[in-house]
Amino acid sequence: MSLVTFDAARRRWLLSTPRTSYVVGLKDDDTPVCLHWGPRLSADQAAALPEPAAFMGSSFDESGTGEELLTEAGARFGAASLQIRFPGGDTGIEWRYTGHTIDAGHLTLRLRDRVHPAEVTLHYRLRPDTDVIERWTEIAAEAPVTLLRCDSAAWNPPPLPGYRLSHATGGWAAENTLRRAEPPVGETVLTSRRGITSHQANPWLMIDAGEATEEHGEVWSAALAWSGSWRITVARTPGGRLSWTGGFGHEGLTWQGAAWTTPVFAGLYSTGGYGAASRTWHHYVNEHVRPAARETRPVLYNSWEAVGFEVGEESQKRLAALAARAGAEVFVMDDAWFGGRTSDRAGLGDWWPNPERFPGGLTPLIEEVHRLGMRFGLWAEPEMVNPDSDLYRAHPDWVIHQPGRERTELRHQLFLDFSRPEVADWAHKWLHRLVSEHAIDFLKWDCNRTFTQADPGEMWAGHVRAVYSILDRLRADHPHLRVEACSGGGGRTDLGMMARTDQVWTSDNADAADRLSIQHGFTQIYPAGAMAAWVTDSPNPLTGRRTSLAYRFHVAMAGVLGLGGDLLNWSEQELDEAAALVGMYKDIRDVVQHGELRRLRGAVQYTLGDRVVVLAYKGPAAFGAPGVPLRLSGLDPDARYRDEDTGAVHHGVLLTARGLIPPFPHDDYASALIRLRKEQL
Ligand code: GLA
Repeated sequence: MSLVTFDAARRRWLLSTPRTSYVVGLKDDDTPVCLHWGPRLSADQAAALPEPAAFMGSSFDESGTGEELLTEAGARFGAASLQIRFPGGDTGIEWRYTGHTIDAGHLTLRLRDRVHPAEVTLHYRLRPDTDVIERWTEIAAEAPVTLLRCDSAAWNPPPLPGYRLSHATGGWAAENTLRRAEPPVGETVLTSRRGITSHQANPWLMIDAGEATEEHGEVWSAALAWSGSWRITVARTPGGRLSWTGGFGHEGLTWQGAAWTTPVFAGLYSTGGYGAASRTWHHYVNEHVRPAARETRPVLYNSWEAVGFEVGEESQKRLAALAARAGAEVFVMDDAWFGGRTSDRAGLGDWWPNPERFPGGLTPLIEEVHRLGMRFGLWAEPEMVNPDSDLYRAHPDWVIHQPGRERTELRHQLFLDFSRPEVADWAHKWLHRLVSEHAIDFLKWDCNRTFTQADPGEMWAGHVRAVYSILDRLRADHPHLRVEACSGGGGRTDLGMMARTDQVWTSDNADAADRLSIQHGFTQIYPAGAMAAWVTDSPNPLTGRRTSLAYRFHVAMAGVLGLGGDLLNWSEQELDEAAALVGMYKDIRDVVQHGELRRLRGAVQYTLGDRVVVLAYKGPAAFGAPGVPLRLSGLDPDARYRDEDTGAVHHGVLLTARGLIPPFPHDDYASALIRLRKEQL
């Protein structure tokens, strides 16, 4: 069956994914509305969906619910997806349908305003292998108009007996705290006004009726592919409906112009609880968003936590030797290799090797890293400048600022305005030159501050688009280059960044116990194969917590393992243990990075082909209580699974129905790695 079919008599479009359907229709007045978002329907069943409720003509009607993009025209009182100002002051769009196109899985609905020459095109893109539907909006006006808001899409689950909203909040070193709560009757705004995706909120949500679990229940979810300011408004009406609208920008911004395309706001419906919703996201992100997701990400070493700003050729070489000994495959030199960057007060913007620290340039270090059998990676923060830099002295006007106002410095740095073509060109040129002139295989693209004094106009989106375009060009010109997205840790974790990077630096907090919750929130939407995680020193420099090397490894092995500790201070025994654990990770990493992820109680399970990997964690011991068996999930009940380490053989049905006691050492913050292989009959 085709992905999109049109029922001309009823003016409705049936969008079919492998397990779900979405039906969009037109009301009598041409308003596009969602008629169904749920289980898969046949054409007959879709035709039998009731017509959308007619407007009752009362001021007190709940009009606007169910609309695909809520405008301000007429009797609509909800949070508008589209706020447009025409010359002369008219607002809103009064819909007039002008046609549609279906190109395989891509449906475009063309509409225009009844009075003004403004066209609005609603896009829907489906793919045969995923339940995720991508939606975005395009606007074209004959003369410049002002936009206060232009969301990508509004999403409308069916009326439910109750509602629960899942989303992530956080802060620096505390990203991705999963929140699950009943949304109030009213409007709930999830947003970033910082010019970056933010640590405080992440642009996704899940909605269920309050009954879903990790394994069961209907879940509706959406995630926005945008790396700057964004807003999602969830509206729950007193009458019992819930919908949300979302897109880039935030309140108070205006754009003047004649054409806009929004970022993608993707959505999915799932019946297998939060876990199945997450797995559908992971599959979608790996198959259709990330550029090289099928590759297995290497183990990297990063020198930041070891040396901070004390970077030098000799000490980097010493670290590289130890990193290679521990099994690292990429050696990444972090901050402070360039210009006059010896602290966070100077040097950003001067992207040439510091001549005192690297008298022969970067090549001697790169050659040594290669000699040790590793690839070389480098940190950069292209969007930033310290006022104490040659770049700023030459171009003080290149930063985001408002004439006459003080330029707020955050971490002693200012934000370069990449929406200005000459600034973005400068950044692209030096990056291109740096990668062309050196054997650099990996770039960590950082962004350690937020916008301030930003003009509330086009630059909010223009800057992000320029970042995207520089990354896209770099990747096209240097196909071997792999990129890590970083923004003071996970401040730019989103589908927009994932589309042009290979992994995300999940958080500056590498404390293994804290990481468990950060990783739990991350994997709600984003796949483990993009989740960079380092093993660093104990006690942890941020939290002071002491944990065993095995525990730190087992937490970091749940994603893309890296090493970030001061290896110069590790004992021979620790280095040997690290090398053995890196070896163990190399054995399981295909299962972790490419397998299906299941969040269990106090554990994460990955399944790929006949292999099952479980990483189980125990918090501080309480009252000497005996362990609770860990029930695995998604196994073949009729199969037997052999423990690759002990040789024990388990029935699949018993692993899921009874579970097993993980072989934890007798300690606080203990962990266990279980490797099972399905036996061939
Ligand atoms: C940010 C990053 C860190 C490190 C520092 C360097 O905080 O998240 O990993 O690169 O910048 O200044």
